[in-house]
Amino acid sequence: MANSWETAAFSEAEKEAVYRALLTRRDIRHFRPDPVPEEVLERLYQAFHAAPSVGLTQPWAIVEIRERATKEKVFASYQKARARERALFEGKERQVYDRLRLEGLLEAPLHLAVFQRPVARSLGHHTMPETLAYSVVLAVGNLWIAARAEGIGVGWVSLLHPEEVERLLGAPPGYRLLAYLCLGYPRAWPEEPLLQRAGWRPGGPLLRYQERFP
Ligand SMILES: Cc1cc2nc3c(=O)[nH]c(=O)nc-3n(C[C@H](O)[C@H](O)[C@H](O)COP(=O)(O)O)c2cc1C
Repeated sequence: MANSWETAAFSEAEKEAVYRALLTRRDIRHFRPDPVPEEVLERLYQAFHAAPSVGLTQPWAIVEIRERATKEKVFASYQKARARERALFEGKERQVYDRLRLEGLLEAPLHLAVFQRPVARSLGHHTMPETLAYSVVLAVGNLWIAARAEGIGVGWVSLLHPEEVERLLGAPPGYRLLAYLCLGYPRAWPEEPLLQRAGWRPGGPLLRYQERFP
């Protein structure tokens, strides 16, 4: 079954809403303690699970974390990773780095550990096995945008040791941590990326070429 293109078209208001969600999405690192309501989470998962995936493999699985003790262990992994990363920077750069807030792990009421799961045999990913990971990341993107529409903040924390989190959460063999997300209602909705506001680096223009690289 397929709808005609007229039926499938978006109204101006719908288009505007979609672009507003896309253009005002932010990485959130300051959260209020209120829980994410279950019905909202269900809708976020609908958006997540509707993502495109190579060969329709849907190669993802999510572990929800609400317990403080687990959050603290993940935070410890973050602290270790941050200390190592800090050593890469010197002088002025290190001063700015030290001021950056790079997670909201202990504030966020909900963490989602997003895994790529093993896929035995399917179509489309044999020449590019990394497309399984791309699929999972697209699903995270869907959730991030839907969360914006719901007023839920999402903060992605890659600054941790994935193998420690995999062990902590009892990941079965072949399951790989791809994204660790903090979710909750944000304390504020920043208008620009926090890294830009903090003077780490400004965003740049889209690199766009015609026909081939110049
Ligand atoms: C794959 C990925 C990993 C990220 N890891 C971190 C992280 O460890 N800590 C952090 O503060 N932000 C992290 N971010 C968020 C980025 O810093 C943020 O998206 C970027 O600065 C742009 O800001 P915006 O998302 O508010 O537009 C990550 C984002 C992505 C896509």
